[in-house]
Amino acid sequence: MNEDFYDPNNALHKKRKVHGRTFVKGMSQRQFDLLSDFLPEVKLDIETLKDSGIAALFDGVKKQYWMEVGFGGGEHLARQARKNPDIGMIGCEPFQNGVAKLLTEIEAYKLKNISVHNDDARTVLDALPNASLDKLFLLYPDPWHKSKHNKRRFISKENLVQIARVLKKDGIFFVASDIPDYVNWTLSHLQNDENFEWLAERSQDWLMPPEGWVSTRYEAKAKRAGRNSAYLFFKKI
Ligand SMILES: C[S@@+](CC[C@H](N)C(=O)[O-])C[C@H]1O[C@@H](n2cnc3c(N)ncnc32)[C@H](O)[C@@H]1O
Repeated sequence: MNEDFYDPNNALHKKRKVHGRTFVKGMSQRQFDLLSDFLPEVKLDIETLKDSGIAALFDGVKKQYWMEVGFGGGEHLARQARKNPDIGMIGCEPFQNGVAKLLTEIEAYKLKNISVHNDDARTVLDALPNASLDKLFLLYPDPWHKSKHNKRRFISKENLVQIARVLKKDGIFFVASDIPDYVNWTLSHLQNDENFEWLAERSQDWLMPPEGWVSTRYEAKAKRAGRNSAYLFFKKI
């Protein structure tokens, strides 16, 4: 067994905890039904991923494989899946209300190219074989403003080792954030990481969304509050 894989007996993996909410009141009966009846049809099976690789999660071999960490309400993931039916997408989100929203989209548009992990993305990172992904999206990660909470941030040395491992060479790690301190945190981690190259050549490259950008719910909220975003692309080298 590859020792990078998720191992329930590994003390480090066992003590992991997802910080933040995983459920709030106010889900409709329809959303509960989707979680209990429809989720099993599109749910990512960790054992399949570990044993057979990413292609085994989808019907037929896909042109590329992308993953989104913390998809929130799933707006970005569902739109990308509609635009790119030949790309297999993994979505990870522990917040069940958000998962239910994504399921509504998957069902409405009969999307066949999304595999849903309704839990911690780190479990999927651990289970993915080396060089599986063409792109990884981390859009508006929880900022964890207080310095004593910074260690909860998704950008961390430990997670970057796994992200570098699961991305293919020349694969893209894309991070968007509206929090200047998180942007600096991201840059300081990735610019000191020999596995990644920041692709920005001029300020426009990171201050403007890329062409065809699909906005997220959180980004819309940040805009309404007058906060601009940074769009950071890193290439796996
Ligand atoms: C600020 S929200 C942004 C949601 C969405 N990306 C957007 O832009 O609207 C951050 C999301 O990351 C999720 N999250 C936090 N830790 C996570 C983890 N370890 N794995 C997967 N998702 C996580 C949270 O549940 C939350 O929904």
